[in-house]
Parts: sequence; structure tokens; C-alpha cells
Amino acid sequence: MKPPPPRPPRDGSRKYHDRVARKYDAIYEDPFWKFHDEVTWGLIKPFLPRTMPAACADLGCGTGKWGLKLLKSGFEVMFLDHSAAMVEEVRKKLESNPRAKKATLVVGDIVGMPELATGAFDLVTAMGDPLSICSDPLRAVREFARVTKVGGVVCATVDNQLAALDYYIERGNLDALEAFVKSGRTNWLTNNEAERFELHTFTPLEIERLFADNGFEVIEVVGKTVIPGRDNRKLLEGEGAIDRLVEMERRLARDPASAGRAGHLQVAARRR
Ligand SMILES: C[S@@+](CC[C@H](N)C(=O)[O-])C[C@H]1O[C@@H](n2cnc3c(N)ncnc32)[C@H](O)[C@@H]1O
Repeated sequence: MKPPPPRPPRDGSRKYHDRVARKYDAIYEDPFWKFHDEVTWGLIKPFLPRTMPAACADLGCGTGKWGLKLLKSGFEVMFLDHSAAMVEEVRKKLESNPRAKKATLVVGDIVGMPELATGAFDLVTAMGDPLSICSDPLRAVREFARVTKVGGVVCATVDNQLAALDYYIERGNLDALEAFVKSGRTNWLTNNEAERFELHTFTPLEIERLFADNGFEVIEVVGKTVIPGRDNRKLLEGEGAIDRLVEMERRLARDPASAGRAGHLQVAARRR
């Protein structure tokens, strides 16, 4: 059997995200992402801290989509991303934000976060798959456990290995399929080789175990999105379409087996 493909350089993700930071929000402005984001917020909301003051961390914050919502909800928020350009986008948005005093910005890597105090956060979000993108998901989850208060919750998304199988099946390369099934590792391919990075994909059971074995009680692992709204844009058109799709997602999410067909998995886990 052939060995897995060579690993791309470690800072490919940082380079890629630095380049796209300024246009990042525009890339995600369409009906599918509206649907996706409503589903995401619906899965985070039940875990918002109930007492104030409370501290949240948005890890792999990008342009701040989730951290800014948490800030708006009244919490203190630590924004952390390894792309300085992404953190700069958050800083610009905070210039006109009345709650900016409650925000802290850090350029850092989720695999080791010496800037963040131990047991500091009631809620940690890591959305848009920084755990899949980072160099060492195990170390990152241990860092999540270190910085989360006992009883606090982490909500994180990862790439779903089961959904990524199709890519290898379409190519008809048995060696590549086998290597992927064994390792869960694949590459984010962009034209610029310096911007390529490795992605760690997980099955629902693997992501559950990663958290359960490293200081968390797993509350749920939900597929996102189970309805592949991107595959037929017609589904997203028309009045009320997104609300109806969100409702269908909620219904499907009640069966954990539905996670198998989603591109991403969202885990919610409580720090033991
Ligand atoms: C797909 S974006 C998602 C951004 C944002 N969380 C959202 O949901 O809109 C992934 C983000 O994770 C960041 N990231 C990837 N690996 C990281 C790491 N090891 N440490 C910190 N940030 C990382 C990237 O720079 C990028 O901003």
C-alpha cells in the first residue's frame, strides 16, 4: 500500500486565512450560509452562560462571527485566531462596538494557548473547524479542557470523515481511499501550494471519544447540515424557505444517526 500523501507545510492555513481575511465575510454572504448560521446559533444558544458576569472564548474566531454574537449577548469575549489578518478584521469591527471593552484579542494557536488562563471560560466556541485545521487536534482539545471552567461548555465543529469519503470514491483510487479511511487525514487544496494545509476529519464516534477521553462529558454530536442545501439552491429560495429548512434540520438532528450524512459535525461537551 502507498503511504499517505506528503504533509503540506504547517503554516498553510495561516497564510490562506491571512490572504482571504478582508473578503472573508463576503464569501459567506448567501442563503445557504444564512441557513447554516441559523442552525449553528440554534445549537450554541442552549449553552449560553446563565449567570453574569461570564466569560467566553471564540477560538479560531475568524472575522468574529460567533464571538461578536456572544459579546452582543453581554458576555466578556476572548477572540483568538492564528491569522493576524483575521484578528485585525475583528479589531476593526470592534471600533464601532459599544461593548468593545469586554473584548480581548489574541493572535495565537489553539494547540498551545499560554495567553489564556486555566479555568477561565464558561463557554468556548471553536466554529468553522479550527480543530480539523490545526496541527494537533488532541493537544488542542486538551487546551480547551485547560481553559474551560469545570461545568463550562465547549461547542466545536469538525469535518466529517464519512461525508469526505465521496471525494475519494469519485476519484476511483483504492489506495488513496484506504489511506484516508485509516488516517482521517486529507488536504485542503488551493492553487497556491504555500497555502495548502492538512485537515483532520473525524467520524461522529471519534470526535465524541476525543472529548470524552480528555476531560469532557459529551452532551451531543450533531451533523451540520444534514440537509445539503448547497446542492440545490432552489431549496433555499422563496419566502420562509430558510425557516422551514432550519425546522427540518432540528427534527433530523434528534436522531444521532443523521450526523453521518452531514459535511460537518458539531460537538457540545461539558468540562468535567
Ligand atoms: C473556516 S474559518 C472559521 C472562522 C469563524 N470561527 C467562523 O465560524 O466564521 C477557520 C478559522 O480558524 C482559524 N484557525 C485554523 N487553525 C487554527 C489554529 N491552529 N489556531 C488558531 N486559529 C486557527 C483560521 O485562521 C480561520 O480564521
